[in-house]
Amino acid sequence: MSVPWRRALVIGNWKMNLSVSMAAHTARSIAALVRDAPDREVAIAPPFTALTTVGAAIAGGPLVLAAQDLFWEEEGPYTGEISGPMLAEVGVRYVLVGHSERRVFLGETDRNVSHKVAAALRAGLHPVVCVGEDLEARTAGRQGQVVRDQVARSLDGVPRHEAARLAMAYEPIWAIGTGRAATPADAAEMHSLIRNELGAIFGESERSIRILYGGSVGEKNADDLMSRGEIDGLLVGGASLRPAEFGRIAGFRGL
Ligand code: PGA
Repeated sequence: MSVPWRRALVIGNWKMNLSVSMAAHTARSIAALVRDAPDREVAIAPPFTALTTVGAAIAGGPLVLAAQDLFWEEEGPYTGEISGPMLAEVGVRYVLVGHSERRVFLGETDRNVSHKVAAALRAGLHPVVCVGEDLEARTAGRQGQVVRDQVARSLDGVPRHEAARLAMAYEPIWAIGTGRAATPADAAEMHSLIRNELGAIFGESERSIRILYGGSVGEKNADDLMSRGEIDGLLVGGASLRPAEFGRIAGFRGL
């Protein structure tokens, strides 16, 4: 597990799943399994429609509310978008930014991502910036360069004193929803590379930035992944819709 000054973070990303009533039910089931613990923090990211209801369902407990995206403006004529202040108002703490599904299906660029990161910070939220190479880049051995560039461009303009509020998620696209997770060793290698890049950008302030791994995390590989010092947490998609499994993932033993 990560160094002691970085509290581990496990986020369940529900993506475009669950009705409001099912989301509340699932949130309550997960809340019943998550204990307050000094060494870890557990969050769930429901779709926008369920944020308020899920927030009420988990209020007063250790489970934290997260969102899957935000827009870079505060308010105005941006049909369909949701702003940072709107998320903060309903109790959101973490917000995913630049998930690969948004990059692939909606054409989100590193430049968009950097604007969203700035907006999240302005709103007092904690952005979780997602990066990761596709299969083509991995096959060509270009994953290091691709991810380094994504990190540098996605964090463009973030001031050093804001670094403590950032988290990163390394999610190789070929591992998302495929059942083919990166090995703990391969993930750790990429996490080190990302941490070096964070050091180049933020200097010593990189020490407080958590780097999560995501992509086919389940109860079978969570402990192994979290036993690596380079891995500070997990971003869990499919398995986070299954409360018992997500509870076991969030209960990782680490080192
Ligand atoms: P997965 O998704 O766990 O279903 O692979 C992870 C993610 O996209 O965040």
